[in-house]
Amino acid sequence: MQPHIKRAFTLLAIAIIVFIVIRSLVVPDSFGQYGWYRGDSVVDNRNFPVEYAGSASCGEENCHKTLYSIWEDSRHKTVNCETCHGPSEKHVSNVRIMPQPANESRDFCGLCHFRQTARPEDFSQIDPETHGQNLRCAYCHNPHKPWFV
Ligand code: HEC
Ligand code: HEC
Ligand code: HEC
Repeated sequence: MQPHIKRAFTLLAIAIIVFIVIRSLVVPDSFGQYGWYRGDSVVDNRNFPVEYAGSASCGEENCHKTLYSIWEDSRHKTVNCETCHGPSEKHVSNVRIMPQPANESRDFCGLCHFRQTARPEDFSQIDPETHGQNLRCAYCHNPHKPWFV
């Protein structure tokens, strides 16, 4: 074999060995246990505390049933209770723990409703400078049934 080819093969062999050594050091042990990912991540994810209860649990008997059915018929039916009220799993499992108050600021409603050219034309948007006289949005709009001005 020509010496320059020999050198190239030696370098290639060294590169492969270095790759294998580094890979064995940095790849976590549980990688590939179930598939092309870290097996321990299943346990890690399972251990995350559950923060959200879901809108349906707000509408249970003896809870916010009336409010829930109003919301369900409204144009806000795609905006879940916890989008505005914050994660409420603790409140659902123990009603003595109050959820944090809903965010009522103009800026919060504005996250979805302040006019942005990038949004679809037919999505309900307003100009914050001229709309609502700088009052809280809920002063005029019912957040649970927004077309009730
Ligand atoms: C778009 C945001 C938004 C959504 C969605 C929303 N809320 Fe509210 N909610 C508010 C705001 C803002 C207030 C405070 C109202 C006020 O000051 O008039 C409030 C008040 C409340 C109150 C206390 C006052 C009352 O009317 O009894 C309850 C209870 C409540 N919401 C439950 C719910 C439930 C249950 C859902 C889902 C079915 C929900 N909310 C969905 C924004 C929202
Ligand atoms: C996460 C996004 C989101 C947030 C936050 C939000 N909305 Fe909405 N809102 C929507 C969607 C989606 C609709 C339905 C729009 C449609 O069908 O064109 C809607 C509809 C409305 C409408 C009805 C418009 C119409 O033409 O009938 C009003 C009024 C309204 N929202 C006010 C509010 C107010 C007040 C708040 C704050 C308390 C708020 N929204 C917070 C997403 C949001
Ligand atoms: C002083 C009362 C008042 C306040 C405060 C107010 N609105 Fe309105 N809003 C109205 C009235 C009245 C209409 C219907 C007439 C119109 O389109 O201007 C309306 C219409 C809307 C619409 C429907 C617009 C459309 O063309 O589809 C949206 C969305 C809306 N408001 C969101 C908001 C948001 C978000 C806030 C807070 C930043 C807010 N409003 C504050 C009175 C108010």
